[in-house]
Amino acid sequence: MNVLIIGGGAREHALCWAAAQSNRVTAVFVAPGNGGTELMGGKVHNVALKATAIDDLLEFVRQNAVELTIVGSEQPLELGIVDLFRSAGQKIVGPTRAAARLESSKVFSKEFMERHGIPTAAYHVFRDATDANTYLGQSQTPYPQVIKASGLCAGKGVFISRNREEALRAVADIFEDRIFGDAGDEVVIEDFLDGQEASVFVLTDGVKYRLFLPAQDHKRISDGDTGKNTGGMGAYAPASLVTPAVMRKVEEQIILPTLKGMAREGSPYTGFLYVGLMIDNGAPSVVEYNARLGDPETQVVLPLLKSDFIAALQASVEGALEEVPFEMHEKSAATVVIASSGYPDHYDIGKPITISPDVSSMEDCYLFHAGTAIKDGVPVTTGGRVFSVTALGDTLRKSMERAYQVVEKISFEGAYYRKDIGAKGL
Ligand code: AMP
Ligand code: GLY
Repeated sequence: MNVLIIGGGAREHALCWAAAQSNRVTAVFVAPGNGGTELMGGKVHNVALKATAIDDLLEFVRQNAVELTIVGSEQPLELGIVDLFRSAGQKIVGPTRAAARLESSKVFSKEFMERHGIPTAAYHVFRDATDANTYLGQSQTPYPQVIKASGLCAGKGVFISRNREEALRAVADIFEDRIFGDAGDEVVIEDFLDGQEASVFVLTDGVKYRLFLPAQDHKRISDGDTGKNTGGMGAYAPASLVTPAVMRKVEEQIILPTLKGMAREGSPYTGFLYVGLMIDNGAPSVVEYNARLGDPETQVVLPLLKSDFIAALQASVEGALEEVPFEMHEKSAATVVIASSGYPDHYDIGKPITISPDVSSMEDCYLFHAGTAIKDGVPVTTGGRVFSVTALGDTLRKSMERAYQVVEKISFEGAYYRKDIGAKGL
């Protein structure tokens, strides 16, 4: 069968790789894809359509006999691509627009968690600067406090304020300077959670679900988790801080009540659910939900999936998840993001990239492209995050060593990466 993957980052390159492994699949289309998916060849074909062009994507699916569509990024979900495709009788993996509010509205997700007793930081909602400033002026809650724009902000909508001055600044940035536009019409101010973060991904048909291995992201730009927040500079899995006992709590206290709650409220949640956790002394709480897989975590959890990924996705859209195997390799995986220097702020693009030819023959190593394109036969940089280099190993340490060996084989002017990806899991 033919499948369509929507998006153009390293997560979508990994999705294309996993889909191409399945012997059920004849063609993998990816819209818009990137330089890496273009170089894959074989079953994989780039399609020059934007992830947000949902009507054109539907037309493409009809004309190319696509039987299953997989949504990588959040914007098409918020635009209602799942509702559109389903009403046209097309099979698609993802939540409806209403269900995707778990990500696209932080106010919705906080109020939802409160309604269903799901552990998360205490919070207040504000719709204008006056009320938020009054609250900050009177609140005795110790700093840091966390200020969040409610809507989608491409991972940039969160301020961790160390004192009242910073908090007031953040509120002014969002409500008065409107740095996030309409996504800042509502603001959540919540307590700071202590602990360690981990990500758990769920594949669900609305009732039944399957779990990928827990992963840990590295959001800060510099070693030792310092500097600015980014989209993610690397990840590893499995994350040992999510012990079997913690995972049981995550299922009982978070995943089950989330799926039941969404169903009871009339928006059953289907597709991938990303549960961003803070784990403090073995107690998990929700930092955020996302309505999709994470990037760069996908680049470690998918290579660790031993079973046929597409078979599981097909089963999920047919409500038959319990009928397919969902098994993992007993290995570790690490992925190191190579970024353009200057990211997450200003960076230059169009830099030619050199990739040593032996990379393609290294077993259990995957060079997932993010911001690249092929120009006159040569890969060039087109984005802030340029590659996500994954390697598997028998231990986390081995997977890290191998990933860094591959990183050394890639060069372009201004290439930047963290040197300590995975170290916090050792
Ligand atoms: P989000 O976009 O909600 O994932 O937030 C981005 C990052 O901010 C998270 O990955 C955390 O590192 C941090 N963060 C968000 N909310 C909190 C919180 N209540 N306590 C501590 N850190 C937080
Ligand atoms: N890795 C963070 C995200 O995908 O949102």
